[in-house]
Amino acid sequence: MSINPNDIPEAFRDRPALKKPAPAPPFSAKPLLPWLGLSLLAALAAGSFILWREPPAPPQSQEPSPSPTAVDNTPVVENVLGHLPYAVAPERDLTAISRDGILRLRTTAAESFLKMQAAAKAQGIILNPISGFRTKAEQNHLFFEVKQQRNQDTSQRAEVSAPPGYSEHHTGYALDIGDGSVPATNLSPNFEKTAAFQWLKDNAHRYSFEMSFALHNVQGVSYEPWHWRFVGDSDSLETFYKARQLPPKP
Ligand code: DAL
Ligand code: ZN
Repeated sequence: MSINPNDIPEAFRDRPALKKPAPAPPFSAKPLLPWLGLSLLAALAAGSFILWREPPAPPQSQEPSPSPTAVDNTPVVENVLGHLPYAVAPERDLTAISRDGILRLRTTAAESFLKMQAAAKAQGIILNPISGFRTKAEQNHLFFEVKQQRNQDTSQRAEVSAPPGYSEHHTGYALDIGDGSVPATNLSPNFEKTAAFQWLKDNAHRYSFEMSFALHNVQGVSYEPWHWRFVGDSDSLETFYKARQLPPKP
């Protein structure tokens, strides 16, 4: 006769999960003794192997590591092949400096450049903007793709172009200027022979523009008489001069 579990009162049904464990036999260490001995021997052998393989590490110093310095103790400035890192200007801060709206600078720099351009024009000098604000993608093209087209090695390329993320053009404060009367000198060292360059040398500071890459500059960037940057407000001044870790004065 088969038993229907529902016929058994619930309290007496066999529920394996709730079964009490059988009482443990009284403890005796005797059978474990050979195993304990063997385990002790194995642990001792493993310990001496580790000691033989790895001499203990010297204690770690708690001193924070100092900022990197060059051999002569001047602080090392973060750079890539001489170019310094720059944040990309926010779109909302950019204003057109060319009629087609393609060339843009930060509004403060744009206003000052347009005043400078008008003043130069009044004296017969045509300051022609060639390149202003650049995104990282644009600089990426200029650095890597043009490098490939010209078959330049990385250091050769870095002498004339900043890697993406490291161009003053990202800031919206820098631009390349040509002489509208002599376009053949655009982006060439010969620009220094033009009337526009002479005018800029004499007058650009009135509009808070300065040349970024003079001959033999410390960054090792090629001479760029056409590349000028605006330093006429706190943000631009800090962008180019703050935390540049100048060596201590003698
Ligand atoms: N020609 C300058 C260094 C630049 O690419 O930003
Ligand atoms: Zn430039």
